[in-house]
Amino acid sequence: MAQSSNTVWHDHAVTKEQRRSKNGHHSFVIWLTGLSGSGKSTIANQLASELFNRDTQVYVLDGDNVRQGLNGDLGFSEQDRVENIRRIGEVSKLFVDSGSVVVTAFISPFKQDREQVRNLLADKEFIEVYVKCPLEECENRDPKGLYKKARNGEIRNFTGLDSPYEEPVNPEFTIETDEKSVSECVDDLLDYLEKNQYISKNA
Ligand code: ADX
Repeated sequence: MAQSSNTVWHDHAVTKEQRRSKNGHHSFVIWLTGLSGSGKSTIANQLASELFNRDTQVYVLDGDNVRQGLNGDLGFSEQDRVENIRRIGEVSKLFVDSGSVVVTAFISPFKQDREQVRNLLADKEFIEVYVKCPLEECENRDPKGLYKKARNGEIRNFTGLDSPYEEPVNPEFTIETDEKSVSECVDDLLDYLEKNQYISKNA
């Protein structure tokens, strides 16, 4: 960025195409977006297991985990969420460059930030998946007890309550986790990936 002006890009000796060819599959980002408690992490992990079992190089980047390390300096203000997604976009791009499939599980509440990640990547490298679930259902599930805390005023800027969530306008795929089981959602996603030739049928 602005602070790194005296740098020179070095081309990689091993290219993205060579890595893909060695792995035997395309590399891309499956970007899951949705409210806290909508099922992003659960679906990301089950999808990653399925892909792993099909000999795919795959890795999950998850908001709760990444915020304990790389993004441990960021909170939940609008500015920090923008930076959270910017960094994850850049990390995802590195994964794609390394020949891997990356599944991300971040609320990523702002449309513009998700678009920025899309623009960072090439065609067919970014699949936006809306993990759709009504706020009431997420709040009922409340797997981490955070909605309760937010309602009690112990957490501020909580997405869906006092911080906005901008629904995807034209996502590549939508899964409705209040209508289907996790396995059905994952099967639907795998189907989408096969039909659109991101993965091969028997990969
Ligand atoms: S994002 O908005 O910046 O994309 P991210 O996905 O990284 O969020 O982190 C969301 C996770 O942080 C939630 O699943 C929840 O466990 C936790 N969390 C803690 N405080 C908040 C908050 N104010 N709003 C939303 N999630 C929060």
